[in-house]
Amino acid sequence: MHKIIEKRQLSETVYLMRLEAPHIARERRAGQFVIVQLDNSFSERIPLTIADAHSEEGWITIIFQTVGKTTKLMAALQEGDVIGNVLGPLGQPTHIENFGKAVCVGGGIGVAPMYPIVQALKQAGNHVTVIMGARNKDLLILEDEMRAVADELIICTDDGSVGRKALVTEPLKELCESSALKPDFSVAIGPPIMMKFCVETVRPYDVPMQVSLNTIMIDGTGMCGGCRVTIGDTTKFVCVDGPEFDGYLVDFDNMMKRLGTFRKREQEDDHACKIGRSS
Ligand code: FAD
Ligand code: FES
Ligand code: MG
Repeated sequence: MHKIIEKRQLSETVYLMRLEAPHIARERRAGQFVIVQLDNSFSERIPLTIADAHSEEGWITIIFQTVGKTTKLMAALQEGDVIGNVLGPLGQPTHIENFGKAVCVGGGIGVAPMYPIVQALKQAGNHVTVIMGARNKDLLILEDEMRAVADELIICTDDGSVGRKALVTEPLKELCESSALKPDFSVAIGPPIMMKFCVETVRPYDVPMQVSLNTIMIDGTGMCGGCRVTIGDTTKFVCVDGPEFDGYLVDFDNMMKRLGTFRKREQEDDHACKIGRSS
């Protein structure tokens, strides 16, 4: 059981929760995630990135967007309520070193998993530029937190309601073309289509790019194969080999096709999973 110590609404559809989870708080590193089950072992298992943690105080922070049944149920919980199971930390931590100049591109809810990576890159001595994108001002999250940790923050919105009216790929291209600011390393986290185009933006300039893949996950332990992705000419499991991979090698088209697999079923109100039923 994990008590909700704090709950905050960050935007119309995005919530932050601070949960009691002392073991995970001690062990976690940037880039890792947990699998959350709201009630018991028969609840749906959803992966969420650890956005922040405090090892001495024993809490972790998760930031989630309400997109379907489980995230909406979760948004209805209040401070003091408990979450049944939080499993983790899972996945490989981000490889952090002093690369020199690093650029981190976060789109939509992808800004949340980006936050601990920005902190870790800064701690390692990098000069970090953060590019954050959202459809509009109201959907932008963690602006103050990012401003406090990044050396430079560039905000882009689709409608120009805050920052530049541009896609995140526009300032990314400008940085790649600049002789003084050309990145030595880059990370992109966001919708698959955004990550795909970020990779295509940096590829001609030979700037390495890591991406964090948000595939369907079921067990999160490498047993079910639900999260498999094509990386170069090999098949990898995002839950144990990832979630981060070399963006140049990811088959995004195949991943996007697989992401839609259960969309229709998820929209059926009366669909009930039969796992765990005795008859
Ligand atoms: P549903 O109606 O079930 O699904 C809506 C969409 O969410 C689906 O089309 C599918 O694309 C995706 N989805 C559904 N179930 C899963 C699942 N078990 N695994 C992966 N995707 C699923 N979201 C956040 O808001 N914040 C995060 O920090 C975050 N971190 C993630 C880290 C990883 C490693 C992965 C793989 C995903 C992460 N996600 C994160 C996505 C999040 O897991 C899904 O939004 C969530 O599972 C949706 O559940 P639902 O029942 O509310 O929606
Ligand atoms: Fe089952 Fe990765 S989620 S193998
Ligand atoms: Mg669901």
